[in-house]
Amino acid sequence: MSKVPPSKVLSAVAWPYANGPRHIGHVAGFGVPSDVFSRYMRMAGHDVLMVSGSDEHGTPILIAAAEEGLTPQELADRNHRIIAEDLASLGLTYDLYTRTTTRNHHAVVQELFLGVYENGYFVEQTTYGAISPSTGRTLPDRYIEGTCPICGYDGARGDQCDNCGNQLDPHDLIEPRSKINGETPEFIETQHFFLDLPALADALGEWLDERAATGLWRPNVIRFSQNILEEIRPRAMTRDIDWGIAVPLDGWRENPTKKLYVWFDAVIGYLSASIEWARRIGDSERWREWWNDPDALSYYFMGKDNITFHSQIWPAELLAYGGKGARGGTPRELGELNLPTEVVSSEFLTMEGKKFSSSKRVVIYVRDLLSRYQPDAFRYFVAAAGPESQDADFTWSEFVRRTNDELVAGWGNLVNRTANLIAKNFGEIPKAGELTADDQALLDRVGSTFDTVGDLIARHRQKQAIGEAMRAVADVNKYVSDTEPWKIKEDPERLGTILHVVAQCVADLNLVLSPFLPFAANEVDKALGGAGEVAPMPRIEEVDDLDGGAPYPIITGEYSGVPGWERRQIVPGTPVGKPTPIFTKLDPSVVDEELARLAE
Ligand code: MF3
Ligand code: ZN
Repeated sequence: MSKVPPSKVLSAVAWPYANGPRHIGHVAGFGVPSDVFSRYMRMAGHDVLMVSGSDEHGTPILIAAAEEGLTPQELADRNHRIIAEDLASLGLTYDLYTRTTTRNHHAVVQELFLGVYENGYFVEQTTYGAISPSTGRTLPDRYIEGTCPICGYDGARGDQCDNCGNQLDPHDLIEPRSKINGETPEFIETQHFFLDLPALADALGEWLDERAATGLWRPNVIRFSQNILEEIRPRAMTRDIDWGIAVPLDGWRENPTKKLYVWFDAVIGYLSASIEWARRIGDSERWREWWNDPDALSYYFMGKDNITFHSQIWPAELLAYGGKGARGGTPRELGELNLPTEVVSSEFLTMEGKKFSSSKRVVIYVRDLLSRYQPDAFRYFVAAAGPESQDADFTWSEFVRRTNDELVAGWGNLVNRTANLIAKNFGEIPKAGELTADDQALLDRVGSTFDTVGDLIARHRQKQAIGEAMRAVADVNKYVSDTEPWKIKEDPERLGTILHVVAQCVADLNLVLSPFLPFAANEVDKALGGAGEVAPMPRIEEVDDLDGGAPYPIITGEYSGVPGWERRQIVPGTPVGKPTPIFTKLDPSVVDEELARLAE
């Protein structure tokens, strides 16, 4: 693999809804893959900016707050904190994990709105809004159900049909009914701003064609994105709702029940979080290196239900702000903004063969998982068996099997026996004498994993990448079994050589596995006498809102100074003591315990 010059890389991670704590299905889709990628890209020498935050506007938050007798802000405050803590506990290395209720985010969203508006890509239209006849209140789109006018599916929601994937308007549903009480909604006239997607369709199509030509996008994702272009029509970017970001125009700003659509605001979070990050490090224009420089790369990580918003709505907002559609125009102060390099969407994770559902208790929350299991055991499962490019199922028996048979018996065992043999025979990393052809072959084979595994991670093939790394682990384990170092009593030089070779391979594979298993990486490093600072960790920080709003927790961290993505020679003489096991072996009874919890 040729060395690529360092790039600016934006890791744009989907913003979790703050309507409740997140379960493992959520973080399997966007969390682990984005962190593995970002950790690798930093080690490969790139300048990574990884941003996200809690998605706190929209109807789900309103509904959840009403159910608990809280204000939406109170509910969002509570869940933002829980989610941020959980994501940090998983070791996800966000440069900034923030939220959408900051004043900075509101200001950036309003700036985007004005740019799009001034360039003429909003059309004001009178539409029909749904009202509940029994309460007189507006009925949110997603709380209306009916038959899809496009595919005929009976359970389509007012905002989207989960059967054919098309975005819908509730007024188009055949036989609409309220999901709350089954009544037929009444539709009244209301004014909204529609994003003129047809005026942006050519620009979107050109961009998608260019992206398709790279061959990098997953086939499902590019195909879906190109298909939805054919049905393109204007989409309302405002809502009749009292929770959200105000429309920054006279006559609208003051209206308490007209707000920007949550998806209009949420996708802008990638940009506003980059700006917030720059402001927080005291270099307020620094974000431009990732957004205005056309050579900068941007990767967006999400589950497949988010594709439309990242391959159509968000690029359309960016194109409209930049004046790149049929109506022309020029950008305002934020300048010309980069479109996504790649929309990296995963498929769905199910649990024990069923769809995750909090109400049906088919769920395990991140927090509960982490209270009982190691974060790396979960990260390993997601990388090795997650929904990367097809739907995948999480089962407790498979979780236990992968943890015990692969992590503990494979990698954990190799580290353990290596450190044990060294501690017992030398107490320090031994020098290598003359290498046999087999020794050299093993070193070469393991050394080559930097290229093979790195290349696969860069192309978002993490399943294959971790498979390659684990095959190399198996080869080193085999070398240990074949050379039987515990039987060598008379030839300390040969013993030292073998253990040196194995220790070098363990050190190499530890770096190669560190994007997947960052917690273990630091422990393995210590086991071989290192300082245990191979993989940086994020931290939670309590910060003030930069513009006078309420304080809030963020995730941030110091991730520069990571080791390079290449072999670091081990140093003979480094003290090595008796190791403690890195991974916890799970008792098979875990499976029944967890299944019983689900049934409770
Ligand atoms: N909150 C959405 C979800 O959980 C994802 C939003 S991604 C964003 O599905 F970028 F738009 F924020
Ligand atoms: Zn449909």
